[in-house]
Parts: sequence; C-alpha cells; structure tokens
Amino acid sequence: MRMRFGGVLAAFLLTAAPLRAAAPAPPKPPANDDCLACHEDPSAKRADGSSLFVDKKIFDGSVHGAAGASCVDCHTDLAKTTDFPHPEKLAKPDCSGCHAQQVEDYGKSWHAASRAKSPLSKAAWCSDCHGSHDIQRSSDKTSRTNHFNLPATCMRCHGDPKFFPRAGGADGSEPMSFHDSIHGKALEKSGLKIAPNCATCHGTHEIRSPRRDPKSTVARAHVPSTCGTCHSKILDEYATSIHGEQLAKGNTGVPVCSDCHSAHAIASSSDARRLAILRECGGCHERQLKTYRDTYHGQVSAMGFSRVATCADCHTAHEIHPAGDPRSSVGPAKRLTTCQRCHPGVGASFVKYDPHADTHDRGRSQLLWATSLFMKILLVGVFAFFGIHTVLWFPRSVKARRDANGKRKNGERDV
Ligand code: HEC
Ligand code: HEC
Ligand code: HEC
Ligand code: HEC
Ligand code: HEC
Ligand code: HEC
Ligand code: HEC
Ligand code: HEC
Ligand code: HEC
Ligand code: HEC
Ligand code: HEC
Repeated sequence: MRMRFGGVLAAFLLTAAPLRAAAPAPPKPPANDDCLACHEDPSAKRADGSSLFVDKKIFDGSVHGAAGASCVDCHTDLAKTTDFPHPEKLAKPDCSGCHAQQVEDYGKSWHAASRAKSPLSKAAWCSDCHGSHDIQRSSDKTSRTNHFNLPATCMRCHGDPKFFPRAGGADGSEPMSFHDSIHGKALEKSGLKIAPNCATCHGTHEIRSPRRDPKSTVARAHVPSTCGTCHSKILDEYATSIHGEQLAKGNTGVPVCSDCHSAHAIASSSDARRLAILRECGGCHERQLKTYRDTYHGQVSAMGFSRVATCADCHTAHEIHPAGDPRSSVGPAKRLTTCQRCHPGVGASFVKYDPHADTHDRGRSQLLWATSLFMKILLVGVFAFFGIHTVLWFPRSVKARRDANGKRKNGERDV
C-alpha cells in the first residue's frame, strides 16, 4: 500500500511523546488522527487488494463519530499500541464495551453458533446487519436495520442461492416469498409500520433456528404467541380450540398458524386459498378428507369451484372443537346455523345429513353402510350369475358354430 509518510511521522511523534515525560504517565491511546494518518488514504489497500480506506466524513457523520467515539473504542487491541505500523492481523472489533446486552443476545443466536463452529461461516455478525463506520440509528431512514429496510439486509444472504440452495423455492418456508406475501407488501409497498419484518418474528439479535432450537420465537410451540402479538383475537380463539389446547398440552402434532398459512408466503383469504385449506386440513385428517370427497361439496370443490363448503366453512378456521363440545360449530347446538349460512331456510332434518358419512363404518352410517353392502352383494351377484351363464353357454355356442360351418362346406345355404 502507499503510505503518507508525514502521517506516519506524526503518529510516531505523538505516540512517542508521553515516553519522554518525566513522570511515567500511562501511554495515551492513539487518537483517531493517528490512525487516519494512514487509513485516510483512499488508495490504502491490503496485500490482497481489499480496501483499508476509512472515510473520515462518513465516520464523523455516523452515530459513533457524532458521539465522539475513537477508533480504538472498537479496535480495542490497538488501544495501547504505541508503535506503528501495527500487526497485520487484528482482532475483530469489540462492541461489548458499550453494547454489552446486544453482544450477549447475539451470542445466543444461530448466527453466532455457526461462526463459533467454523471460521469459514458466512453467518451474520454485527457489521453484516449494521455496517461498520457508517452506522446510523435504526430510526434513521437510511439505516440498514430501519424497519422498512431490514428485509433487504437479511435477504442479501437469505435470498442468495449461493448461500442457500433453496432460496429460490416457493413452498413458503424459505424467506424469499416474504416479498409477495401480505406482510411483505404491507411493509415494503404500503409502508405500514405495524406490518412485521424479519426481526419482528425472529428477534433482532437472539435469532435462533426455528427447527433446531426449541427456544426460537418461531419454533412450533411459540408460533401462535408470536403471530398473536398482532393477531391477538385470533390467538384467543385458537388457544381455546382443540388444536390450541392440545398444543398447550405438548402435542406438537396439531397445526400451528404457519402450517395453514405458511411462514413467509402468507396470503389474504381468497377462493384459491379456500380450496388450498382442504389439502392442509386433509394432510392430517386423511379419513375426513376422503369422506368429504364422497359428498356433493367435496365433488364440486374437487372440480375447482369454491362456492361450496370446505372444511373451515363448517368447522371454522380457528375455533375448531370436537362435535360433542357445545362450542363446536358442527355440534348439535350450532350445526343448523352453520349450514344456514349457505342453505338459508333449511330445517332441522337437513342437518341430519352427515358430511363425513362412511360406507365402511357401520357404527356411524348404518343406512349408508347397509345400502353399500346391498349394492356390493347385488354387483357380485349379477357378475356371478352372468359369469356362470357365459361359461356354461360357451360349449354350446362353439358346437353351434361348428355345425353351421359344416353345413356351409356341404354347399347348404344358411337360412
Ligand atoms: C503506519 C500506518 C498505519 C497506521 C498509523 C495505522 N494503520 Fe491500520 N493498517 C495499516 C496497514 C499497512 C494495514 C494492512 C495490514 C495488511 O497488510 O493486512 C492496516 C490494517 C488495519 C486494519 C485491518 C486489520 C485486519 O486484520 O485486516 C485495521 C482494523 C486497522 N488497520 C486499524 C487501525 C487503527 C484503529 C489505527 C489507529 C489506532 C491504525 N490502523 C493505524 C497501517 C496503519
Ligand atoms: C463502532 C465501532 C468502530 C469504530 C469506532 C471504528 N471502527 Fe473500524 N471497523 C469496525 C468494524 C465493525 C469493521 C469491520 C470489521 C469486519 O467486518 O471484520 C471495521 C473495519 C476497519 C478497517 C478494515 C477495513 C474495512 O473497512 O473493513 C479499518 C482499516 C478500520 N476499521 C479503521 C478504523 C479507523 C481508522 C477508525 C477511526 C477513525 C475506526 N476504524 C473506527 C468498527 C469500528
Ligand atoms: C441479523 C442482523 C443483526 C445482527 C447480526 C446484529 N444486529 Fe444489532 N440490530 C439489528 C436490528 C434489526 C436492530 C433494530 C431493532 C429495532 O428496530 O428496534 C438492531 C439494533 C441494535 C442496537 C440498538 C438498540 C437495540 O437493541 O435495539 C444496537 C446497539 C445494536 N443493534 C448493536 C449490535 C451489535 C453490537 C451487534 C453484534 C454483537 C449486532 N447489533 C448484531 C440487527 C442485527
Ligand atoms: C465507545 C462506546 C461504543 C462502542 C465500542 C460501540 N458503540 Fe455503538 N453506539 C455508541 C453510542 C454512544 C451510540 C449512540 C447511542 C445513543 O445515543 O442512543 C451508539 C449507537 C449504536 C447503534 C445505533 C443504535 C440505535 O439507536 O439504533 C448501533 C447499531 C451501534 N451503536 C452498533 C455498534 C456496533 C456494531 C459496535 C461494534 C462494532 C458498536 N456499536 C460499538 C457507543 C459505542
Ligand atoms: C410473520 C412472521 C415471520 C416473518 C415476517 C419472517 N419469518 Fe422467517 N420464519 C417464520 C416461521 C414461523 C418460520 C418457521 C417455519 C417452519 O418451521 O417451517 C420461519 C423460518 C425462517 C428460516 C428458517 C427456514 C428453514 O428452512 O428452516 C429463515 C432463514 C427465515 N425464516 C428467515 C426470514 C427472513 C430473512 C425474513 C424476512 C425477509 C423472515 N424470515 C420473515 C416466521 C416469519
Ligand atoms: C451475512 C449473511 C447473513 C445475513 C445478513 C443474515 N443471515 Fe441469517 N444466516 C446466514 C447463514 C450463513 C446462516 C446459516 C448458518 C448455519 O446454519 O451454519 C443463517 C441462519 C439463519 C437462521 C437459522 C436458519 C436455520 O436453518 O434454522 C435464521 C432464522 C436466520 N439466519 C435469520 C436471519 C434474519 C432474520 C436476518 C436479518 C435480520 C439474517 N438472518 C441475516 C447468513 C446471514
Ligand atoms: C388449521 C388451520 C389454521 C390454523 C392453525 C390457523 N389458521 Fe388462520 N385461517 C385459516 C383459514 C382456513 C382461514 C380463512 C381464510 C383463508 O382462506 O385463509 C384463516 C384466516 C386467518 C386470518 C384472516 C382473518 C379473516 O377473517 O380474514 C388471519 C389474520 C389468520 N387466519 C391468522 C392466524 C393466526 C395468527 C393463527 C395462529 C394463532 C392462525 N391463523 C391459525 C386456517 C388456519
Ligand atoms: C407485527 C404485527 C404482525 C405479526 C407479528 C403478524 N402479522 Fe399477520 N398481519 C399484520 C398486518 C398489519 C396485516 C394486514 C396487512 C394488510 O392488510 O395489508 C396482517 C395480515 C395477515 C393475514 C391476512 C389477513 C387477511 O386480510 O386475509 C394473515 C392470514 C396473517 N396476517 C397471518 C399471520 C401469521 C400466521 C403470523 C405469524 C406467523 C402473523 N400474521 C404475524 C400484522 C402482523
Ligand atoms: C358440510 C360441513 C362440513 C364440511 C365441509 C366438513 N365437515 Fe368435518 N364435520 C362436519 C360435521 C357436522 C361433523 C360432526 C359429525 C358428527 O359427529 O355428527 C364433522 C366432524 C369432523 C371431524 C371429527 C371426527 C369425525 O369424523 O366425526 C373431523 C376431524 C372433521 N370433521 C374434519 C373435517 C375436514 C378435515 C374437512 C375438510 C376436508 C371437513 N371436516 C369438512 C361437517 C363438515
Ligand atoms: C398438523 C395436523 C393437523 C392439521 C393441519 C389439522 N388438524 Fe385438526 N386435529 C389434529 C390433531 C392432532 C387433533 C387432536 C387429536 C384428535 O382428536 O385427532 C385434531 C383435532 C381436530 C378436530 C376434533 C376431532 C374430534 O376429536 O372430534 C377437528 C374437528 C379438527 N381437528 C378439524 C380440523 C380442520 C377443519 C382443519 C383445517 C382447517 C384441521 N383440523 C387441521 C391435527 C391437525
Ligand atoms: C360455504 C357455504 C356452504 C355451507 C356452510 C354448507 N353448504 Fe351445503 N352446499 C353449498 C352449495 C353452494 C351447494 C350446491 C347446491 C346449492 O346451490 O344449493 C351445497 C350443496 C349441498 C348438498 C347437496 C345438494 C342439496 O341441496 O341437497 C347437501 C346435502 C348439503 N349441501 C349439505 C350441507 C350441510 C348439512 C351443511 C351444514 C353442515 C352445509 N351443506 C353447509 C354450500 C354450503
């Protein structure tokens, strides 16, 4: 690198000065100008060509420059340095002197664990999210961590297929789909302050792995309470439903918000979504999906028409209870009103119809079971009768054909 010689000399004189004093005062830490003597040179580069330039104007305009921080507040291993040039390799800057809490929280994150495991890790560290000499308050509109800018900051890595091979996928578990989700649009297009960004759900510094760390704010067991910080009425409904109650008892086989809505591709209610919910409920309740498919509603929705009832129209989306529970929308008390939403004017006999009638289940659907059994017997009977009939008839029809051929050969005409 090119050095400004005057700068080096100045640095030397400055740092050497206290040593000549009579009383052995502790050495003064190097001042910013000492460092800038070399680092203010825009062409200053490492051997590998990466820049060593520190723009004084930018630093002075940063929150740290404005607060009067000195270079060695962060580059602490040079705080006692008196002879320059300093060693080539320096320690990572240390932020803990002033931001102990953030450093401690970051230490619990998946990013920190990844870096501790491997020096080659590309996981985020302070400067990946905040910058280094240009840090601004998050409230500043230009800050990388401003509420509206944060997705782009995280996506620099999480949207890059080089880092994450699945980044371009579209199943809703990967973060890329956030941009087009209802939350992403509310945040990035409408500029809605109350719309969540990545950190609202994942935390700011203590970002944990949702699937590998049960303490993550978005680990299965915690998803409802995290979404519920904003959607609080839905959380109340969900928490008292069979699914919510089972979750509280530790049954993680029940659906949480992100199973039905996805994590990052959350969409507003629509016809397509009403049909998609069939797959979601049916993924766990396979038997009910099958019996539903046998019904009028099920056959019509299978053709892509969403006007008919899907699971959530009868069971509700969040206040699902077993039919025996008086709160259930399909229990005896409320079933009529549930059907009447779309079948106005129907009476009590209409709702005797079982939407999950099962021809294989004698206890549940006795009449249907008997009818089905009768039809099966009829079918088998008919096939058996005509099968035997055909088998017995076969030799006769062969003989008749032979006789007819014999007559033709003898010159007799068919009649
Ligand atoms: C005499 C000139 C000079 C002075 C004064 C100087 N540096 Fe450097 N600094 C260098 C050189 C040369 C390198 C590149 C070392 C290399 O080849 O990688 C460097 C590299 C660095 C690096 C990068 C280290 C790394 O591990 O990659 C930091 C950070 C740094 N200096 C901070 C400071 C601070 C803070 C001060 C003031 C206390 C300071 N420097 C004073 C010349 C100087
Ligand atoms: C608020 C803390 C902080 C202060 C104050 C600070 N730095 Fe840095 N500095 C950083 C961080 C963070 C990095 C990036 C390190 C990394 O990513 O490994 C850095 C990197 C550097 C580098 C390496 C080149 C680069 O830009 O990556 C040099 C040189 C450097 N600082 C010099 C200085 C000088 C000179 C001053 C004083 C004018 C100063 N720093 C003040 C935090 C600070
Ligand atoms: C993954 C990104 C990310 C990393 C890594 C990160 N931060 Fe932050 N940090 C944020 C976000 C986002 C905010 C803004 C929170 C808000 O809007 O309230 C923030 C806020 C802050 C604040 C302001 C006070 C506060 O807690 O809200 C400080 C100070 C801070 N970070 C320091 C650090 C330090 C020091 C490190 C490294 C140990 C670090 N950050 C690492 C994303 C990050
Ligand atoms: C010498 C103490 C000191 C050190 C060391 C230090 N900071 Fe700061 N930092 C401050 C002060 C002072 C502020 C301004 C806080 C205020 O006025 O609210 C600040 C503000 C910040 C903010 C903006 C907070 C906000 O309100 O949004 C971030 C981000 C931040 N620092 C990150 C870092 C990072 C990253 C490091 C390490 C690379 C670091 N700081 C090292 C003193 C320090
Ligand atoms: C509305 C809340 C919410 C928002 C906003 C959100 N996430 Fe997520 N994120 C989740 C949930 C819930 C999971 C767990 C998904 C799972 O286990 O299937 C998750 C999982 C993840 C994962 C782990 C994926 C995996 O394969 O296990 C990453 C990485 C991630 N999110 C990053 C981001 C980024 C980056 C953003 C911002 C662009 C973001 N998230 C915004 C809720 C959210
Ligand atoms: C500098 C690149 C970078 C940035 C910026 C970054 N991350 Fe990461 N993040 C990574 C890497 C790399 C991993 C994987 C670490 C590993 O598993 O070794 C990771 C892991 C994660 C995980 C755990 C994923 C899992 O598999 O369970 C979550 C969640 C996450 N990041 C969220 C965020 C959020 C939210 C932000 C923004 C506030 C962010 N990250 C910013 C690089 C980054
Ligand atoms: C078992 C599946 C399921 C679970 C679990 C679930 N939802 Fe829903 N949610 C739905 C269905 C179905 C709808 C109806 C609209 C639609 O098609 O998306 C819906 C609608 C919504 C709406 C829109 C409200 C409206 O009436 O327009 C919000 C907001 C919502 N859910 C949030 C949540 C939150 C927060 C949780 C977790 C506490 C959650 N959901 C859990 C299936 C579910
Ligand atoms: C920081 C607050 C916040 C958090 C946390 C949050 N949301 Fe939202 N959500 C909103 C806002 C605001 C809207 C409305 C956006 C709009 O209409 O433009 C919304 C809209 C929705 C909708 C669409 C409602 C409709 O109109 O059909 C669904 C579904 C939804 N959120 C589900 C979730 C789920 C699931 C989670 C957790 C994984 C979650 N939200 C976390 C604030 C939040
Ligand atoms: C037309 C309204 C309606 C639709 C659509 C509907 N159900 Fe039901 N469901 C009911 C009624 C009524 C009961 C109570 C039957 C009884 O026990 O009398 C029930 C019962 C259930 C039960 C309790 C166990 C059982 O078999 O009785 C489950 C689980 C269930 N439904 C899931 C689903 C799923 C999943 C879907 C979508 C594939 C769905 N339901 C669609 C009305 C409906
Ligand atoms: C992730 C799997 C999963 C998904 C998705 C799911 N459920 Fe459930 N559901 C369960 C579990 C587990 C239980 C509690 C144990 C049981 O009774 O089977 C349950 C219980 C129920 C019950 C009460 C059953 C009873 O005992 O009478 C109904 C009704 C129900 N779910 C309907 C739905 C509907 C409607 C949807 C879609 C909106 C849905 N479920 C989505 C797993 C799921
Ligand atoms: C979301 C609206 C909706 C709900 C809720 C609903 N249905 Fe339907 N259902 C329809 C539509 C649309 C048709 C198509 C026939 C029509 O237009 O009347 C239909 C057709 C039917 C049919 C076959 C045709 C007929 O009219 O005889 C039966 C039986 C039926 N529904 C029973 C029920 C029962 C029982 C309930 C309550 C447990 C119920 N439905 C709830 C929308 C709904």
